[in-house]
Amino acid sequence: MLKNKLYIKTWGCQMNEYDSSKIADIMEKELNCIVTKSVKDANILILNTCSIREKAQEKLFHQLGRWKNFKKDNPNIIIGVGGCVASQEGKNILNRAYYVDIIFGPQTIHKLPMMINNVRKFKKYLIDISFPNIEKFKYFPFTKTKCFSAFVTIIEGCNKYCTYCIVPYTRGKEISRPYQDIILEIKNLSTQGVKEINLLGQNVNAYQYKNDKGQIFNFTDLLIMISKIKDIKRIKFTTSHPKNFDNQLINVYKKIPQLVNFLHLPVQSGSDKILSLMKRRYNIFEYTNIIHKIKNIRPNMQIGSDFIVGFPGETKKDFNETISLILDVDLDMSYSFIYSPRPGTPASKMKDNVDIKEKKERLHLLQYHINQQVKKFSYKMLNTIQTILVEGISPQNNKYFGKTENNRIVFFTSKNNYIGQFINVKIIDCYLYSLYAVFISIVKN
Ligand code: 5AD
Ligand code: SF4
Repeated sequence: MLKNKLYIKTWGCQMNEYDSSKIADIMEKELNCIVTKSVKDANILILNTCSIREKAQEKLFHQLGRWKNFKKDNPNIIIGVGGCVASQEGKNILNRAYYVDIIFGPQTIHKLPMMINNVRKFKKYLIDISFPNIEKFKYFPFTKTKCFSAFVTIIEGCNKYCTYCIVPYTRGKEISRPYQDIILEIKNLSTQGVKEINLLGQNVNAYQYKNDKGQIFNFTDLLIMISKIKDIKRIKFTTSHPKNFDNQLINVYKKIPQLVNFLHLPVQSGSDKILSLMKRRYNIFEYTNIIHKIKNIRPNMQIGSDFIVGFPGETKKDFNETISLILDVDLDMSYSFIYSPRPGTPASKMKDNVDIKEKKERLHLLQYHINQQVKKFSYKMLNTIQTILVEGISPQNNKYFGKTENNRIVFFTSKNNYIGQFINVKIIDCYLYSLYAVFISIVKN
């Protein structure tokens, strides 16, 4: 039998990274595939793409152009394109890259082994970018991991249709996984040593699952269930939406100590006018209200966000309101992007009146303020005791490393091996995103 060696190149968000890990799992199970880090070794090449920003199509064809040569040397190589660009472009990909064998979407990754078999059998390309009602997760085997922190998808797709965003078109509508499956997956991960779970979804707090008895379970209910899994000591999630951040969810921070003191809650803009044009469904008063309520419960809570600058219609005044928000809310680590028109979205039809030079200047200024905030919080951590989950030894500096609740990477040296354990360290030096520390004590269970 042909020995399958799989090479996967992944672009984009954590959801895409997660999907790629699931592709590897299912390909190993169904086709006895070994994942290789060397593209030259592989006979199955998969490109898992992202189209949320930038010129994704050009990047895609550039990459495929390089892979074309491998196929010239070995016509048995299978090339597959998946993810959001595949979902957006579909068959059009073949017009410029006729040598692609398989085009699949984010919701059809479980069909990949079958598609590969059929391409080999019938010697014809295959496309499936549908959003089938059946749940792809049913097909994935349990992940085998040696890590102590793991991602678990709880909800797929998005129903929000923010005017700038392509995700609802490429990933489809919201589908929540059954809580029973999520709990089972987390329990399985915990038996392998996982102690920290990062719940994933475009909009995790829109989670809603109706069981056979008609009972409805929301995100808060799910968090409570997960908090009861004995060995899961830390719970993180990404990304949540302010519209669904209700009082029930805010109040659960009183009950679940495993929930970290860091919340990534994308606001996108500090201007109510722009939020309305973006169709974000909240205003700045409502956003800051959530933050105040949550800080009332957890005074040490740090907040991160996402920002888009240069959205159509954004004036200097609107932009200044964004800067004020960063300072008023005292935001920590945040991501920021220049607005990028996405094909077929309502915003792409709006008049884009901010020139690119101005957009770049705004981004630069925004990032300056974000970095100042990050520095401020990192310096505040100096000489404090922090709890980290030790994840391994860094190949860069040969030091042990772990992460704090607010996602700072901490390096330290030690004679003892604490990998896989939560330990307390004292921060003795700090850089923008990384900290240096000395060991203090092991965290008792
Ligand atoms: N242009 C720029 N940034 C975007 N994002 C989503 N769509 C666009 C777009 N068209 C950003 C948002 C979102 C993050 C994942 O990507 O800030 O929160
Ligand atoms: Fe896109 Fe808005 Fe959905 Fe987030 S909430 S994935 S920005 S449509």
